[in-house]
Amino acid sequence: MNNILLTFSIPLLFSPLVWSGYLESNQNVLTPEDWIRVGPVDPQKEVELTFALKQQNIEQLEETLRRVSDPDSAQYGKYLTLEEVSSLVRPSELTQKVVHQWLASHGIKNCWTVQTQDFLQCTMTADVAETLLSGSKFQHYVRDGQSVVRSSSPYSVSDDIHQHLDFVGGLHRFPPKGQQDYSKAYYLKRNQSKVGFHLGVTPAILRERYNLTVTDVGSAQNNSQAVAQFLEQYYRPADLAEFMSIFGRSFQHLSEVDRVVGTQGAGKAGLEASLDVQYIMSTGANIPTWVFTNPGRHESQEPFLQWIVSLSNISDLPWVHTISYGDDEDSLSTAYMMRINTEFMKAGVRGISLLFASGDSGAGCKHLDKENSFRPSFPASSPYVTTVGGTSFKNPFKVTYEVTDYISGGGFSNVFKMPNYQTSAVNAYLKTVAASLPPPSYFNTSGRAYPDMAALSDNYWVVTNRIPIPFVSGTSASTPVVGGLLSLINDRRLQKGLPVLGFLNPRLYKLKGQALFDVTEGCHLGCLDETVQGQGFCAAQLWDPVTGWGTPNYPALLPILTSDS
Ligand SMILES: *[C@@H]1O[C@H](CO)[C@@H](O)[C@H](O)[C@H]1NC(C)=O
Ligand SMILES: *[C@@H]1O[C@H](CO)[C@@H](O)[C@H](O)[C@H]1NC(C)=O
Ligand SMILES: *[C@@H]1O[C@H](CO)[C@@H](O)[C@H](O)[C@H]1NC(C)=O
Ligand SMILES: *[C@@H]1O[C@H](CO)[C@@H](O)[C@H](O)[C@H]1NC(C)=O
Ligand SMILES: *[C@@H]1O[C@H](CO)[C@@H](O)[C@H](O)[C@H]1NC(C)=O
Repeated sequence: MNNILLTFSIPLLFSPLVWSGYLESNQNVLTPEDWIRVGPVDPQKEVELTFALKQQNIEQLEETLRRVSDPDSAQYGKYLTLEEVSSLVRPSELTQKVVHQWLASHGIKNCWTVQTQDFLQCTMTADVAETLLSGSKFQHYVRDGQSVVRSSSPYSVSDDIHQHLDFVGGLHRFPPKGQQDYSKAYYLKRNQSKVGFHLGVTPAILRERYNLTVTDVGSAQNNSQAVAQFLEQYYRPADLAEFMSIFGRSFQHLSEVDRVVGTQGAGKAGLEASLDVQYIMSTGANIPTWVFTNPGRHESQEPFLQWIVSLSNISDLPWVHTISYGDDEDSLSTAYMMRINTEFMKAGVRGISLLFASGDSGAGCKHLDKENSFRPSFPASSPYVTTVGGTSFKNPFKVTYEVTDYISGGGFSNVFKMPNYQTSAVNAYLKTVAASLPPPSYFNTSGRAYPDMAALSDNYWVVTNRIPIPFVSGTSASTPVVGGLLSLINDRRLQKGLPVLGFLNPRLYKLKGQALFDVTEGCHLGCLDETVQGQGFCAAQLWDPVTGWGTPNYPALLPILTSDS
């Protein structure tokens, strides 16, 4: 195991000169338990690093996002092009010059930028990288045949560079593990489900529950949607085709993906990868769909960061993206999360809706010496994405009303402040359930609360490696379902000549639960034994940190979300 210093939460007063050089002073550099450190890399090995250059006008970007996504603002729907975003946030001439000169002075020449010029990706040998970023030490790590290169220790840069960078990617943060393939909750549920026959969720069941008729399929020109996935596994076109031939008989649909961004490797088809694409194309039926996949050109790449960077390099993106990825907030540096959050704002001002799965561990749990606390997940906790939780049918043998799926991720951020659009909803919840809330030391009521809405997340049928598999569960199922529904609403808006929905939350919270099926029963996991339900938060009337505002009733939502005054 790795015995290097873990985090630097030591107060600055210790020695400001030493500590100020760390760009990510509180980044966890522990080896995750599923990875094994093999040893140092060859000094001549090529690594690829991503430099996040300091941007300009972040406050103005935030204010623009507020205006273009607030339905009561005159600027509502007046989205920016990528070129306009670029002129707003692009790093100053000075920043660009300093960073370029710094890299050049180390002989680094192979660099690519993006349209917004706020990211630089460069290849260099490991020994050059270690000189450039003092303290870094590149090592090989493996997990189940997967191999990455990361630094086992934190890195720093000199003060004159420090002020021009947010962070450097490619040193820390390991690729995520697939929730479907590893989570305890998944196996637990799968085991429970096998006890007796179960209805199972299929496109037809979802379309029935959310009241989609045969005519509720996409037809607008220029509408599209996307799923992004970062696992060493691939969606397989033949699985999608087979899924649609089995489960797609009752509605018009597409059976092929429109565009794959990134490399579809030769790896195995994965449950999670199959799930996302099969279900976004079932609710967002007949809408062209893109798949963003792990490019994996270099072992030093961070897959999620690659995706974020690519958004700033493609002018015409799909309007809705669903992403089933999350990390514990406390495993990531604040500098990294803040910058990624700015990237979400950059997408939002372009009219792009980003939907993240809320996670499959309920409120989460951090075991501390004295007292435990909940463990929020990022990007679910970002105020600038729409976060989707999970539900089950009350009666698992019938299409009935929905109750909490106890794995549904939810809670309060320790990093991001509560955004204005949700304060009254969240405060109303805290007041109503005051008597039955978990201990106050477990969560932070000043933080961004999530999820924002939910959908069924339990017992899906998925085709993977040509075989239909039941009992697939998790918020990685509910998220593409909601994404497809929003795409359908965008479709109708485009046909009416209206702008797309963009960042949904300000408008969603103004509905106050109207047109959504409120989920009021059940509690999610928290800080005790994972087999015990009800140790986190509990669902309640209107908004709650388990299922948000509830699940979509499409025919009720459609007129409300397509009538702009
Ligand atoms: C961004 O796109 C341009 C033009 O297609 C390309 O040359 C460049 O390499 C891309 N940047 C990155 C970081 O991939
Ligand atoms: C689920 O069942 C398998 C055997 O089918 C067993 O190995 C595993 O421990 C069980 N997992 C849980 C969480 O109950
Ligand atoms: C939608 O579904 C619900 C529950 O399945 C049902 O009660 C309702 O009447 C349906 N139709 C509309 C337009 O809401
Ligand atoms: C679709 O997009 C293309 C390119 O972005 C544009 O030229 C065309 O006018 C758009 N069509 C419609 C119907 O909006
Ligand atoms: C609570 O959240 C705020 C942000 O809303 C943060 O500044 C503060 O540090 C958090 N407290 C703890 C104990 O994490």
